[in-house]
Amino acid sequence: MCAKKVTQKPAEVPTTGHVWDGIEELDNPMPRWWVWVFYATIVWGIGYSIAYPAWPLIKGATPGLLGASTRADVAAEIKQFDDANATIKQALVDADMTTVSANPELMSFAQNAGAAVFRTNCTTCHGSGANGIEGKGYPSLLDDDWLWGGDVESIQTTITHGIRNTTHPDARYSEMPRFGADELLEKPQIAEVVEYVLKLSGQDHDATLATAGETVFLDNCSACHMEDGTGDINQGAPNLADAIWLYGGSRDAITYSVVNARFGVMPGWNTKLTEDEIRAVALYVHSRGGGQ
Ligand code: HEC
Ligand code: HEC
Repeated sequence: MCAKKVTQKPAEVPTTGHVWDGIEELDNPMPRWWVWVFYATIVWGIGYSIAYPAWPLIKGATPGLLGASTRADVAAEIKQFDDANATIKQALVDADMTTVSANPELMSFAQNAGAAVFRTNCTTCHGSGANGIEGKGYPSLLDDDWLWGGDVESIQTTITHGIRNTTHPDARYSEMPRFGADELLEKPQIAEVVEYVLKLSGQDHDATLATAGETVFLDNCSACHMEDGTGDINQGAPNLADAIWLYGGSRDAITYSVVNARFGVMPGWNTKLTEDEIRAVALYVHSRGGGQ
């Protein structure tokens, strides 16, 4: 490759010797502008690989004279946001949870931070709109029907330690007996009590069976679900007298619940989230839910 001037007439240009179907390939030199651009890219390439991270090493790459690092840029940017938020995060940690809503600035920060925490950690089970997954035991957090209490401090406790998990010693815990699987009730008694639950929740039921079922209920169920079936937040026992169901309110679903019990588990979050994140997401959930 050389920058020799093209002085020959086309006829005098040597050929490469390649011939296809009588068409010959002329051996013209590269245009000069092209050659200079080519040299320039080589110089640029060498310069670049000295100035910027370029050559792979066993661990990482050569750092480059300018010390440029997109990773460090991102880290610095994150740190800048963290520093800017450090004061307000601390204020949230120090705040009395019941009065945060009176502080618009803190509340607005908690709402945004809490929504972000929720999107990342909670939507898999509780749904992107926090409306739960019907029939699967993942409760909606938007209604005023709380298993473990809907005031902001109860919500905070539930999130901090979780429910019936084996990893958090302070997890909320209760266990409904498996009335069928462990033969605590006879089959006919289960059929009766299921009709009674249907009656409690205002659904179609067999009146005779339901009357017998009331006795079974008062003997076996009211300790947790209360005599009127409205449940008990101290034991996480759901209200059976409304139209909201964790696992479904059909005859089949209720029978399954009574025979096998369900034992819903939620992880605890104080090992994965910081205190300010837990508080933020608790305030977020509280503000979206029925807000007790
Ligand atoms: C692996 C699934 C799972 C994830 C992830 C999860 N939860 Fe839960 N959550 C559950 C289940 C199951 C229950 C109901 C347990 C029961 O039957 O008592 C529940 C219950 C709750 C309750 C109690 C509702 C009530 O009625 O008292 C709150 C509050 C809650 N979750 C908030 C959260 C928040 C906030 C997050 C994210 C930080 C989260 N959950 C992530 C499964 C999950
Ligand atoms: C020791 C307390 C306890 C007793 C006793 C008990 N339950 Fe439960 N029950 C619970 C808890 C806690 C749940 C929440 C589901 C779970 O995680 O097991 C529940 C859930 C249910 C559900 C599912 C509700 C839903 O929303 O899907 C039904 C139905 C039910 N119980 C009926 C009964 C009946 C009928 C009896 C009596 C034969 C009974 N329970 C006795 C604690 C109890």
